[in-house]
Amino acid sequence: MSTTAISISQLLTAAGLMLGVAACSPAAASAPSLYDSPGGRLFLRHCAACHGARGEGGAGPLLNAAGHAHHHTDGELATAVTDGIARPGAPVAMPAWGNTLSPQEVRQVLEFVKGLWTEEQRQFQQALSAQR
Ligand code: HEC
Repeated sequence: MSTTAISISQLLTAAGLMLGVAACSPAAASAPSLYDSPGGRLFLRHCAACHGARGEGGAGPLLNAAGHAHHHTDGELATAVTDGIARPGAPVAMPAWGNTLSPQEVRQVLEFVKGLWTEEQRQFQQALSAQR
């Protein structure tokens, strides 16, 4: 066996070990848990296509901490999701989910969205919802 062959097989072994380590690393293990809730699963299924898997936006606006969704009260957010938003001239409309999601599911998916915000934004939005 030449030294080259040995080093290639060693490289392959090392690569395999690295892949195994990556698959078990805390980062890889915790990533799916973001969606490991009823709201997270609903968001992935119904919302991520337009709003991005982490609310980073796309055809629909950002819903994460970089957006302004936390400036809406619980009531306003629930109405937007349940009834949709039809803005004349908008290239893509926010669909109405009231026939697809139960009121409880709307709350669950909005809980997931709030999880994308900072703690300060959550407190701000909670105070806003209590005021109005
Ligand atoms: C077909 C694309 C599409 C899908 C799917 C979609 N949305 Fe939207 N959504 C939009 C668009 C476009 C807007 C902006 C509407 C406007 O203001 O004109 C929007 C707006 C919103 C807003 C208001 C945001 C703000 O800051 O004013 C919320 C909240 C929201 N969507 C939540 C959801 C949730 C939750 C789901 C899944 C149940 C969902 N959306 C699915 C396209 C989509």
